[in-house]
Amino acid sequence: MKAKIGVSWSLLHLINRNHPIDKMISLKKIRKAYRTDFTTLEVLKGIDLEIASGEFVSIMGSSGSGKSTLLNVLGLLDDFDSGAYHLNGESMKNLSAKEGAHFRNRLIGFGFQSFNLLSFKTADENVALPLYYQRVDRNERQKKAREYLERVGLLDWADHLPTQLSGGQQQRVAIARALITQPKIILADEPTGALDSKTSDEVMGLFQDVNDEGITVVLVTHENDIAERTKRTILLKDGLIEGDQMHMSTAKLSINV
Ligand SMILES: Nc1ncnc2c1ncn2[C@@H]1O[C@H](COP(=O)(O)OP(=O)(O)OP(=O)(O)O)[C@@H](O)[C@H]1O
Ligand SMILES: [Mg+2]
Repeated sequence: MKAKIGVSWSLLHLINRNHPIDKMISLKKIRKAYRTDFTTLEVLKGIDLEIASGEFVSIMGSSGSGKSTLLNVLGLLDDFDSGAYHLNGESMKNLSAKEGAHFRNRLIGFGFQSFNLLSFKTADENVALPLYYQRVDRNERQKKAREYLERVGLLDWADHLPTQLSGGQQQRVAIARALITQPKIILADEPTGALDSKTSDEVMGLFQDVNDEGITVVLVTHENDIAERTKRTILLKDGLIEGDQMHMSTAKLSINV
């Protein structure tokens, strides 16, 4: 009897405990407006959102609902006006450009619809680029870039320029580039938006692999079947979260005790 009480007490203790590290992303009342001389456009109107470490989340919503703006705020590519944003337990309020770059380099990998690959650099040079900014030496950069290209199944394409690669291959190069710094979180804005359904499927398989390794993945999509391959979908409407749904078919039972 005593042991039983002991167990439930320690469970309660664990459940009630605040796990700052388990909360990869915590947004409280985030607001953001775009201002010109004459107009103010409120885009994020008080976003409350928590994403735990290791989640696989999609963000949906109609065009103009604020998805990219939200992703840019999450990725420290854009500032927010008010509210609180904690990433990996640390406040992201009023960061200097240098501090923002520091957190981005240390924690975040990006994937975009247009891939953002440098057209005059080969696949392996593109993948190695984030390491160049981290001042990793050339040999190590090349070795790592090839290792990550192999992971996305493109080692044989290392010497090719982006224009010599298909859309799916370019997206895989972009994912390899996002992974090379070993981020804790991958953010992707419509990563399958420019791809046919078979290639989208392959790219989603890659995101699934990345997530299976414990990396938090947050992607924006317009497509239901892409969202259904994630484990949770956030629905944005007019700058507010209108829905938040777990996908039970893919959800794994995970209790953080
Ligand atoms: N840099 C900017 N300056 C001014 N207004 C902007 C800027 N970026 C976005 N907006 C406006 O903010 C609103 C939200 O844009 P956002 O790009 O976040 O939408 P979205 O949900 O990603 O749409 P889409 O599905 O079309 O990509 C839009 O009305 C857009 O015109
Ligand atoms: Mg967008």
